Amino acid sequence: MSRNRIAIGSDHAGLELKNFIKDILIQRGIEPVDFGTHEESSVDYPDFGEQVSFAVSRGEVDRGILICGTGLGMSIVANKFPGIRATLCHDEYTARMSRLHNDSNILVMGGRVIEREVALKILVAWLETPFEGGRHSRRLDKILKIEKRVNNDL
Ligand code: RB5
Repeated sequence: MSRNRIAIGSDHAGLELKNFIKDILIQRGIEPVDFGTHEESSVDYPDFGEQVSFAVSRGEVDRGILICGTGLGMSIVANKFPGIRATLCHDEYTARMSRLHNDSNILVMGGRVIEREVALKILVAWLETPFEGGRHSRRLDKILKIEKRVNNDL
């Protein structure tokens, strides 16, 4: 999958890390589509999580990145959307595994819990690691079926 357009979003607690991530994406030739927030004043993370998740779910961008204070709220929001596999990553290992085994399409990080150096390692691993497929495809298919059953589509 192309990684040329990545939607990004945060609340106030993730703003600083979002801006850092945005610069790194640009340096790597990836276009960030920034849904905000753009100011330090207190906002509600679901408003930004919704916009990014919607863009990824509808295929308007290739993937998404969401950041709030802990990453927990954004994860909860993003995983409500069809086809979204949002993964909260705290280190390089979980970021790599989120791609290899879970085919993560939204990376979630906690701006108040990780240092920039770690965030950079997470980002690079998530951007560069391919999905392994095989038995993991079968498991993702099962998740898709669960999603459809829950939505009464099956
Ligand atoms: C904001 O204070 C904080 O609750 C939010 O950034 C996030 O951590 C929620 O899960």
